[in-house]
Amino acid sequence: MPAPVIKLLETPEDMSSVEALQRAVWEGSETDVVPAHVFITAVHNGGFVIGAFDHHQLIGFVFGFPGLESTPDGPRPKHCSHMMGIHPKYRDSGVGFALKRAQWQMVRHQGLDHITWTYDPLLSRNAYLNIAKLGAVCNTYRRSEYGDMRDGLNAGLPSDRFQVDWWINTRRVDRRLGKRARRPLKLDNFSKADLQPFYSVHASPQTGGWPRPPEHFSPLEGHLALAEIPADFIALKDADFSLARDWRFFSREVFETAFAKGYIVTDFVFDQGRSFYVLSNGESTLEQ
Ligand SMILES: CC(C)(COP(=O)(O)OP(=O)(O)OC[C@H]1O[C@@H](n2cnc3c(N)ncnc32)[C@H](O)[C@@H]1OP(=O)(O)O)[C@@H](O)C(=O)NCCC(=O)NCCS
Repeated sequence: MPAPVIKLLETPEDMSSVEALQRAVWEGSETDVVPAHVFITAVHNGGFVIGAFDHHQLIGFVFGFPGLESTPDGPRPKHCSHMMGIHPKYRDSGVGFALKRAQWQMVRHQGLDHITWTYDPLLSRNAYLNIAKLGAVCNTYRRSEYGDMRDGLNAGLPSDRFQVDWWINTRRVDRRLGKRARRPLKLDNFSKADLQPFYSVHASPQTGGWPRPPEHFSPLEGHLALAEIPADFIALKDADFSLARDWRFFSREVFETAFAKGYIVTDFVFDQGRSFYVLSNGESTLEQ
């Protein structure tokens, strides 16, 4: 697909198209569609709704607004990115990356240096985009962040989320968004360094070939650790809901334990159909 046209959305007509697109991305819950008037109010008060177009058709959007975070020195301004959705027919074509890149530019112009957002840590594609391609990092795990969600993607499971930090003025992020894309990390990079995941995942005929989490994991040690998640959690959830719940509770324990020990999610590997978070201990979120 040719590069999408990226535009700021501002008018009530634009926002009606975003309402329609939300119905295609998050099917099944009309009450969760963010209405046009909320977008209009946000963009009149420092927020952005950015659209991606294929010819004149809206195929993706990202929405965020200014917010405040608590720090020991008092409240500090940031940008809170709340939603991004790409029409199912246009996924994996770089549209999400292009929208986040535009958001990065707009928020930098406002003089802010920090963007946060949440996503389900078991969604491998989102993880790859957020962590590996955009250079966001994470050490915040939020249990049941949005309560019981009703839309088709989220219904039925506790809405646990990573809250990621995107430090948009760092060299780390500059490099990831630069013209020369970084070569994706491979599992080989880690096996050569003799780094093994700290738990093993098994796929067996009893689980229909789907990966099953273990009962326990080894204590986390060392500077780097690899934590596996399913490569296609949405398909796994459709095929075996109870296995999806097992993954939710297992990964909750893994990440809460890791973050409590000072680990930060700093990278993500998607290779040979398998997906791994890279956790680092001792790396500051502002370095690299
Ligand atoms: C998550 C979402 C916004 C990503 O948008 P997108 O346009 O598909 O993203 P991009 O194409 O820029 O990047 C996706 C990357 O993930 C890779 N990918 C695809 N399947 C993957 C998988 N199972 N595991 C890891 N990476 C995967 C793609 O190959 C692509 O990387 P590449 O460009 O290096 O090839 C989109 O899929 C979406 O709308 N999902 C539903 C709603 C949602 O989850 N929104 C976000 C939370 S509000």
